[in-house]
Amino acid sequence: MLDIKNIQTFYGKIQALRDVSIKVNSGEIVSLIGANGAGKSTLLMTVSGINKPREGVIIFEGKNIEKEEPHKIVKLGISQSPEGRRIFSKLTVEENLKLGSNIYENGRNYLNDIKEIFELFPVLSDRKTQRGGTLSGGEQQMLAIGRALMARPKMLLLDEPSLGIAPKLVNQIFVAIKNINKEKKVTIFLVEQNAKKALELADRAYVLVNGKVTIQGTGQELLKNQDIQAAYLEGGG
Ligand SMILES: Nc1ncnc2c1ncn2[C@@H]1O[C@H](COP(=O)(O)OP(=O)(O)OP(=O)(O)O)[C@@H](O)[C@H]1O
Ligand SMILES: [Mg+2]
Repeated sequence: MLDIKNIQTFYGKIQALRDVSIKVNSGEIVSLIGANGAGKSTLLMTVSGINKPREGVIIFEGKNIEKEEPHKIVKLGISQSPEGRRIFSKLTVEENLKLGSNIYENGRNYLNDIKEIFELFPVLSDRKTQRGGTLSGGEQQMLAIGRALMARPKMLLLDEPSLGIAPKLVNQIFVAIKNINKEKKVTIFLVEQNAKKALELADRAYVLVNGKVTIQGTGQELLKNQDIQAAYLEGGG
């Protein structure tokens, strides 16, 4: 479904991605783990068209997208929940969700889509008239995921959904991600520093070190891999 081939991305002279190749098949949950600064966010930004790679190609459902504009990529079916959530703090929960559907010009019935998001994250329904900025970190993360889903993506890109969130809410969010994949049939490409959770959830996973893919395999294989255990899983991961 998504075929990332030999991507090289730079910030000025600094090379953030080195010959990265990753595949995500339709229906899968694929996780990308790696330390701070490994290039995980850069890769998601490159897929969503915000960063342009210097070399390499990205093929989504048979179409080259590495030179496409971000809004076109959303229309093709890829939607991102960014690192740090980036919700609009002065807008209400409902208004934030509505913005996620604006990519479609012809005023489609977004109310039904919002209803589905509220079923997925009932706490957002209780808070629907509350301003985004007053939500807890975990609630904001749910809102960011909900807003990305409002574009009705075929593939959802998630950048560190567990970052800075209380463990109880982290569990809820991972249950929701599984649900989005299994029930809503949305393919998931997940970036995480929480390696344990990300590998447990993943059908397949990749490890990124200094902009390079070093290890790949099924989630279960990577959980058992001793190098990964030493680097990412010991001490609670
Ligand atoms: N806008 C930018 N300008 C210059 N360098 C950048 C920019 N964004 C990221 N970088 C650099 O690119 C490298 C990869 O950063 P990136 O944000 O992709 O890492 P990451 O794996 O997402 O890290 P984290 O886990 O901390 O979010 C880092 O060395 C970072 O300093
Ligand atoms: Mg990042």
